[in-house]
Amino acid sequence: NLPNRDAEKARAAEAAVAEIESGMLVGLGTGTTAAHVVSALARRVAEGLSVTTVATSLGTARSAQAAGLAVLDFADVAAVDLCVDGVDEIDPALRAIKGGGGAMLREKIVAQAAARMIAIADGSKSVATLSRAIPIEILPFARASVLAAVGRLGGEPLLREGRISDQGNLLADCDFADMSDLPRLAALLSAIPGLLGHGLFLDEIDVLMVGEDESVKRCDR
Ligand code: A5P
Repeated sequence: NLPNRDAEKARAAEAAVAEIESGMLVGLGTGTTAAHVVSALARRVAEGLSVTTVATSLGTARSAQAAGLAVLDFADVAAVDLCVDGVDEIDPALRAIKGGGGAMLREKIVAQAAARMIAIADGSKSVATLSRAIPIEILPFARASVLAAVGRLGGEPLLREGRISDQGNLLADCDFADMSDLPRLAALLSAIPGLLGHGLFLDEIDVLMVGEDESVKRCDR
C-alpha cells in the first residue's frame, strides 16, 4: 500500500492546530501541508476558538481570509506566539530546507518572530541528511552577481524561469555538492549582497510533527 501523503499532511496539521489556544497570534505557513492548517484552524474558530493570524504568503493570506480567519498585516506585528509551517526536507536535528513554493523569505521572518515553531510534514520529508537544492531569493538588480557568488561557494544555481516571489524578486535553487557544514553555508549565503533570503532553517523549528498511517510522530528539539 502506498502511503497517503495528503492524509499524513492533514493529520500532522490537525495535531499542530490542537496546540493552538484562544488569544494566540498564529503564524500561518505556505504550501500544501500548511493549507491543512488553515482549514483545521478555521474549523476550531467556527467552534469558538478566538485567534488572530499572520500569513507567510499572499496565497495563504487569501485562503485564510476566505476560510474566515482574521489575518493581520505582518508589517504591524513584532511577535507571534506560534508558527506552523511545512518543510521540504527535515533532518533528525530539526534542521530543514524550505522554499519549494518560493515563500522562504517571509516564512523565515515570521518563524523568527515566533516564540515557538512547529514544522508539520508527511513521511516523505524526513531525511537522515539534508541534500536537496537550497532555494534563494534574489533582488533582480543583483541577479548575475548573486548567481556568481553562489558559484564561488561551490553551488550550482538554477534560476526559476518565469517565477517571482510575492515581493517581485527572482528565485533560484542552489545545488551544493558539499552540505557538511550547514551553519557555515547559511552564514555565507546570508552575507551575499542582493541575496535576500535562503531556505535553510537551522534553528527556528522547535517541534516536528510527522503524519503517519494512523498517528502523528512528534519530535522536540
Ligand atoms: C513554501 O515556500 C515552502 O517553504 C513550503 O513550506 C514547503 O515547500 C513545503 O511545501 P509543501 O507542504 O507543499 O510540501
